[in-house]
Amino acid sequence: MIRNEVLSEVLARTEIEGLISGYVTLRRAGSNLSGLCPFHSEKTPSFTVFPATNSFYCFGCGAGGDPVTFVRRVENLDFEDAVEFLAKRAGITVLRDEGRRRADEPRFDRNRFYAMNRDAARFFHSSLFADTEDARAALAYFKTTRGLSDATIKHFGLGYAPNSFDALTNHLLKKGYTEKELVAAYLCGKSEKNGKLYDSFRNRVMFPIIDVTGNVIAFGGRVMDDSKPKYKNTSDTPVFKKSRHLFALNYARHTCAERLILCEGYMDVIALHVAGFTNAVATLGTAITAEQARIMSRYTKKVIITYDNDEAGQCASDRAIKLLEEVGVDVQLLRLSGAKDPDEYIRTFGKEGFAKVLDASRSKFEYSFERVLSAHNIAVPQERIKALMELCGIIAEIYSSAQREVYISEVGKRLQIEDLNSIRTEVERMQRRAVREKKKNEDQKIRQNTVGYGDRVNPDFAKDPGIARKEEAVLGLLMLYAEHRAVAFADPPLLTEEDFFTAFGRRVFAFIRDAELGDGFENASPDAVFTPEEVGRMMKMKLARMQLTENGEAVFRESAELLRLDVAERRDSETVSTVEDLAAFLERMRGK
Ligand code: CTP
Ligand code: MN
Repeated sequence: MIRNEVLSEVLARTEIEGLISGYVTLRRAGSNLSGLCPFHSEKTPSFTVFPATNSFYCFGCGAGGDPVTFVRRVENLDFEDAVEFLAKRAGITVLRDEGRRRADEPRFDRNRFYAMNRDAARFFHSSLFADTEDARAALAYFKTTRGLSDATIKHFGLGYAPNSFDALTNHLLKKGYTEKELVAAYLCGKSEKNGKLYDSFRNRVMFPIIDVTGNVIAFGGRVMDDSKPKYKNTSDTPVFKKSRHLFALNYARHTCAERLILCEGYMDVIALHVAGFTNAVATLGTAITAEQARIMSRYTKKVIITYDNDEAGQCASDRAIKLLEEVGVDVQLLRLSGAKDPDEYIRTFGKEGFAKVLDASRSKFEYSFERVLSAHNIAVPQERIKALMELCGIIAEIYSSAQREVYISEVGKRLQIEDLNSIRTEVERMQRRAVREKKKNEDQKIRQNTVGYGDRVNPDFAKDPGIARKEEAVLGLLMLYAEHRAVAFADPPLLTEEDFFTAFGRRVFAFIRDAELGDGFENASPDAVFTPEEVGRMMKMKLARMQLTENGEAVFRESAELLRLDVAERRDSETVSTVEDLAAFLERMRGK
């Protein structure tokens, strides 16, 4: 449990602008700031930060709340871990009262997990240099078979998991980690037969995965021959989600601001770093995810994809291009011929060879450009216009205006069109159309998500959007004004749960009331009780009212009264909506 004083101190010491600008590039917009939402893909900023109220809201996807809500979402932490995260950031120590946590809710200490993984990494690393035949074979695999130096082995913290069922288990138990922790960290498995722990990784060379703050969070272990499976990887644990980390980003983040190289394998990344391309990263044994694309967009402007030279690799690139373009980074494809992957390419053609293809690598646009030109006979005027239109459509999708200009003049040259302005106008027209269409799609999605069907936060909303909206207005007013809360919760109260229409509305109302009658609503954190999505919806209710000027007591009383009447009327009509109900209703009336 997080004590209230701790929470208020953490919030008082956290400036939302500083916090969020670590994740999102923010631009000033009047007294607020805006940027591209880190929680959904968008090209025009609808994510807004309100420094005055220490809050944020995305008008696109409805994410919103205070610094705690932000951290819960962006770092994927639960409420208590999010508060602790912010406390650490602000230099406050949080003493937790563990007593009130339910027994069926295992609670893990993240710091112990980091320490445990670090201890495991140290163990694997030193096992690589042990004086045994197995260890010598593992070291020879890295040094001879893969050509790595001692310095590289050390730099990446590579290691060896001994061919034993209990070497690591015993080592870590001795250090005081519990069986539960070892299993949850995926370092050990538990036998179903005799309940004994055993090492998850055996006789494999080990690649530690390190997060951007330097914590060891997971491992990939490779066999040293052709046996299967080639890799065994840590599955998701309390401190690791493979969909949101990248191998070697801890190093690459220092040199990838201009461009980042994305490849498939750990060995590719290592070979690239050794060759001086320290801006290379890899996904962790899965196809790239939207989260990983978003992370890359926080660190770089351009991603150069260099996947394996096989069909799987090419399919994977298509997906990567799509996801990366969605988050607004430039994407370039590097096709390597004469080698199956970057690792082999560098070994065959040297780092100079790789540097050469890197510089000559063409953007996706240039590929499409050639494709369009070769598909049309541009000597025929009509074909030339068709080619021009297709090319304008492609240019319209490019994010950077400088780059659009470059391609516009390129098109002018290749199609022999002197008046570049006519091309510019056409591109702009297509851009506007694309924006309109995107906006339409987004609006539709938002409508589906926030009102009507598919509203996961408030499924009752669709039953009667009219009443539900009135309810949101009342709740918004309650959250915004202490005066209205005083009126609503007076003795006798103006409003009770009964007066609310949706189950979600009733929960929000009860929360506001209980908080106000307790330590005060201003001091309560909805994050302790509601999901981040629900907190976002509450934020939306407040914002909707903030945009109105007339929010005085008269307005509040009237809104509350209308809501109460509507809800009562609906309840009555529901009660007598069918013949059976009518009979039951009459029965009840007679009984009275
Ligand atoms: N991978 C995995 N599980 C497998 C195969 C691959 O998790 N059974 C992941 C690993 O992260 C690996 C990446 O996919 O690094 C790329 O696979 P691959 O090219 O087969 O492996 P490399 O690391 O490049 O190994 P090598 O060059 O030794 O074949
Ligand atoms: Mn490979």
